[in-house]
Amino acid sequence: MLRIGIAGFGFMGRTHYTCWNKVEGAKVVAICDVNPNIVEDTKKAVGNIGDAQPEIDFAGIDLYADFDKMLSEAKLDAVSITLPTFLHPDFTIRALSGGVNVMCEKPMALNVAECEKMIAAAKSSGRLLQIGHCVRFWPEYAKTKQIIDGGEYGRVVAASLRRLGSAPTWSADNWFGDEQRSGGMALDLHIHDTDYVQHLFGMPRAVASFGAKAPGGGLAHIVTQYIYDGEPVITAEGSWAMMPSFGFEMSFNIVLEKATIVYDLTRDPMFKICGVEGEPFTPEVEKGDGWLLQIAHFAKTIAGEKLEPVTTLEQSRDSVKIVAAEKESAEKMQIVSIS
Ligand SMILES: NC(=O)c1ccc[n+]([C@@H]2O[C@H](COP(=O)([O-])OP(=O)(O)OC[C@H]3O[C@@H](n4cnc5c(N)ncnc54)[C@H](O)[C@@H]3O)[C@@H](O)[C@H]2O)c1
Repeated sequence: MLRIGIAGFGFMGRTHYTCWNKVEGAKVVAICDVNPNIVEDTKKAVGNIGDAQPEIDFAGIDLYADFDKMLSEAKLDAVSITLPTFLHPDFTIRALSGGVNVMCEKPMALNVAECEKMIAAAKSSGRLLQIGHCVRFWPEYAKTKQIIDGGEYGRVVAASLRRLGSAPTWSADNWFGDEQRSGGMALDLHIHDTDYVQHLFGMPRAVASFGAKAPGGGLAHIVTQYIYDGEPVITAEGSWAMMPSFGFEMSFNIVLEKATIVYDLTRDPMFKICGVEGEPFTPEVEKGDGWLLQIAHFAKTIAGEKLEPVTTLEQSRDSVKIVAAEKESAEKMQIVSIS
């Protein structure tokens, strides 16, 4: 049995808990959180995509406020790092150095230099580090990549992706609203689409971004064109500026020569392929959500299965790099090249 720890038991910690409970042969045995009221506070609703509010059964789980104590006592095979972003590098490196495999939430870190330190720690420890770029595993997004790569509908002419909501309000001290700790909306939210663009099309040559400033600084809304050699017109829009009653939209339109692939979480059906002729249809996709599928993949890898990596550490670092270029582009109102 894989002994699993979770560090940071807010929205994503609870989401990882739900996922680990569904992974055969794994058990959450320890949770670390500095919040002394964590047991009571887990009853509050949080998050932006439904279905993430588990009943937590704390029986048989050791609770810690001190991460090093958890590492030394709990005999973990792996730990989910679901802490505020600025803590990802330090906690990840400490876990890896202690011989524990790490599933760390996205974004990998606040900047490329910190990502490099995490990559070096993973290499020298010989343990697995996977970053939670769950959109690569999200069933409709994974299916879309498979369809594009299969080539049956020709090449991609254009793609537009959106991830729109209001600013997260669930964190106790609003660390999300502090650019120094979260990287702001572009690094926290919009990176999901940046990373998926990288997954589909590789590294862009440059980016052209426009942004609307949030009242307290940072970006509230961003639109980016990812510039590739050749024709495809690839754009993504991210926002924390929507009104709460808007809810949350994650969506895309991928325009291929012989089909348009449409996904929108807010529509029914959410996913469809509109071909040259006939009615649109919804292809079969894998069961579960991206959070569960990425953790299942991670669990199989640490159990020794040889799987094709869906996301590499270098790609996770490169998504942080692209977002940094997007922020610079929006700030300077200039196209920014990516080296
Ligand atoms: N993959 C996704 O879809 C997704 C969605 C939301 C958030 N995230 C990412 O997950 C991470 C966590 O976000 P969240 O929404 O769960 O935040 P959150 O504020 O809900 O939870 C963070 C938890 O960490 C605890 N914590 C803070 N400092 C600590 C410390 N030093 N030691 C132990 N515990 C500590 C807090 O008490 C809190 O319970 C962030 O990096 C965020 O970007 C990913």
